[in-house]
Amino acid sequence: MSDLAAGARRPGADVVVTEVWRTFHKGGQQIDVLRGANLSVGAGEAVALVGQSGSGKSTFLHILAALEPPTRGEIAISGRARSGATRAELDRYRNQDVGLVFQFHHLLPDQTALDNVAMPALIGRFTLPEARERARALLVRVGLEKRLQHRPGELSGGEQQRVAMARALMMEPVLILADEPTGNLDPATASEVMGLLREVQMERGVTLIVVTHAMELAAKCDRVVRLVDGRMVEG
Ligand SMILES: Nc1ncnc2c1ncn2[C@@H]1O[C@H](COP(=O)(O)OP(=O)(O)O)[C@@H](O)[C@H]1O
Ligand SMILES: [Mg+2]
Repeated sequence: MSDLAAGARRPGADVVVTEVWRTFHKGGQQIDVLRGANLSVGAGEAVALVGQSGSGKSTFLHILAALEPPTRGEIAISGRARSGATRAELDRYRNQDVGLVFQFHHLLPDQTALDNVAMPALIGRFTLPEARERARALLVRVGLEKRLQHRPGELSGGEQQRVAMARALMMEPVLILADEPTGNLDPATASEVMGLLREVQMERGVTLIVVTHAMELAAKCDRVVRLVDGRMVEG
């Protein structure tokens, strides 16, 4: 393995969520999706987030990723409170500190696997040759050394999610947020992809919060947390 792809250079983030509320207004109705959610995740820990459809899991991940603000409450990443962050700090957090994996991979259809993975790095930090070399090494790590030049449409669902995983690791994130990354896969492939996600997460010491429907996949994590009535329940 190239040293560019070897372990994390940055320790995983610890994540502390305190009394987070998220309220939506729709057609004159107020919906409190999150109602004082609390969660502490240690650096390098893997937490599975489960809960019924519509319980607010995606909303919670979006807030953690700083893609939307909480209505109330505080989020601290590696001890730094979100509420005190400048716009530049939030941009850096979104671009470099967090790696996202979604159910539908959001890969660019016209780009090769290699360039899909290299893409996030082209906005900074790496030169093009460095980005390509690091992307190649990450794709090798997720078992896609023979698929570097394939476009997403030429890959299986499991392979597409491996590419998405490699892309999420590209900036050496301190936190990976994965929203039903295996939701679109058959059970055997889902188990493989979740196993691989857990392997690379442990190798790098990066913190992981992963939403999943399947309890046998959630059980691969250190801890399972359930979102019930807008709050987190352990176990
Ligand atoms: N932008 C929005 N505007 C209004 N309601 C929303 C918005 N986003 C999510 N919701 C509502 O919040 C609830 C939780 O949604 P979501 O976080 O997607 O749940 P989950 O991921 O657990 O299935 C749902 O009732 C959904 O309709
Ligand atoms: Mg969701």
